Amino acid sequence: MRILLIGGGGREHALAWKLAQSEQVTEIFVAPGNPGIAELPKCACVTLDLNDLDKVADYAEANSIDLTVVGPEATLVAGIADVFKGRGLPVFGPSKAAAQLEGSKAFSKNLMAKYAIPTAFFKICEDIETAKAYVEEKGAPIVVKADGLAAGKGVVVAMTKAEALAAIDDMMADHKFGNAGARVVLEEFMEGEEASLLAFTDGKTVVPMIAAQDHKRVYDGDEGPNTGGMGTYAPAPVMTDVLRLKATETILKPVVEAMAAEGTPYQGCLYAGLMIKGDSIKVVEFNCRFGDPETQVILPLLEGDLAEIMLACATGTLADVNVSWSNKAAVCVVMASGGYPVSYENGKEITGLDAAAADKDTVVFHAGTKAVDGKVVTAGGRVLGVTACDENIRAARDRAYAAVEKIHFDDNFYRKDIAWRALKR
Ligand code: AMP
Ligand code: GLY
Repeated sequence: MRILLIGGGGREHALAWKLAQSEQVTEIFVAPGNPGIAELPKCACVTLDLNDLDKVADYAEANSIDLTVVGPEATLVAGIADVFKGRGLPVFGPSKAAAQLEGSKAFSKNLMAKYAIPTAFFKICEDIETAKAYVEEKGAPIVVKADGLAAGKGVVVAMTKAEALAAIDDMMADHKFGNAGARVVLEEFMEGEEASLLAFTDGKTVVPMIAAQDHKRVYDGDEGPNTGGMGTYAPAPVMTDVLRLKATETILKPVVEAMAAEGTPYQGCLYAGLMIKGDSIKVVEFNCRFGDPETQVILPLLEGDLAEIMLACATGTLADVNVSWSNKAAVCVVMASGGYPVSYENGKEITGLDAAAADKDTVVFHAGTKAVDGKVVTAGGRVLGVTACDENIRAARDRAYAAVEKIHFDDNFYRKDIAWRALKR
């Protein structure tokens, strides 16, 4: 099987790493890929203009690609799956219409309301006056969300009315997120513990993965501004087997059925961000793709052939595939550039990568790196996702941090408390 993988971050490194383990897979072309991906067996990094989806499909056709796997949401929301399907090319990832589950928070909230899928109460506001009046009426805490894609930054959990009103001004008057903030969703503040539950689906069959937990805040103790994710672990103990089954039956399956009923079947990876309190589970958000860095801890625990599962999703035969999981645990520690998520410098040389990866249960996924004159240098805020597997979370965490200590680049920082919630239990 020849695969084309779109993307070049830590998530795509983990996808390429797992796909390369499949006996069926002969070659993986990754656009644009990264220096970590370039070193994997069977993988080659290629340059494609991802703004020209017809050209990407031309490339797939010309190179006899059997399956295209799409990492980033922006390419899915732009409609890559529609272009490929229209030309008879198998693709893993939802159509443009189905990707609206992530692309528009108003769309996903309306869908959940229509199909009685548990989520926070909400109001969709098209203008500033309505939004501000709603905040005055409801008070704080309240959550203000830009409707469209904002690279994970379009959500403000406002603990005071003033913060909420300022967020509305930022989004709707000052256009901080461009068109994404032209419409906002105001949401009831939910208390509880968050977990990410991702699922494979072909539009009919839904197969949940192992639940993961992400640390979104930049500093230890879950303090400081939100980031793309500073570290993850799986399985997340908060998601017991009973809760995972409940989430599958009350959220994942109903959403996939709802999308089919709406005439926009959902195929690919469905990511549910969930808030858990006692035995109540509500949806925080949906994403139309794998999580980053959730993927880095979920895929190492997948037993079986990722290429086979993904092809089955693309061709509607997921019911015929057996998906099983290891009973080990995985922890990913993100090493970031000093100053992230606000501002940081690129181009710092990274050393110790080989020493860190010498342990067979450790993988260093590249998130923001670049090869320059035979050296690997930093090229992003989140630079590496150092991931280790072991018998339990504590052992996996210790193994991951042991690898982190072998890696160096100037001004690097990382959280020292990844998985603290799991270990506190
Ligand atoms: P989202 O991009 O929708 O996942 O929101 C980013 C983060 O904001 C989530 O991971 C939560 O920590 C927080 N958040 C979003 N919506 C709510 C809510 N209704 N109640 C409490 N926290 C929320
Ligand atoms: N780690 C959060 C996300 O991928 O959206």
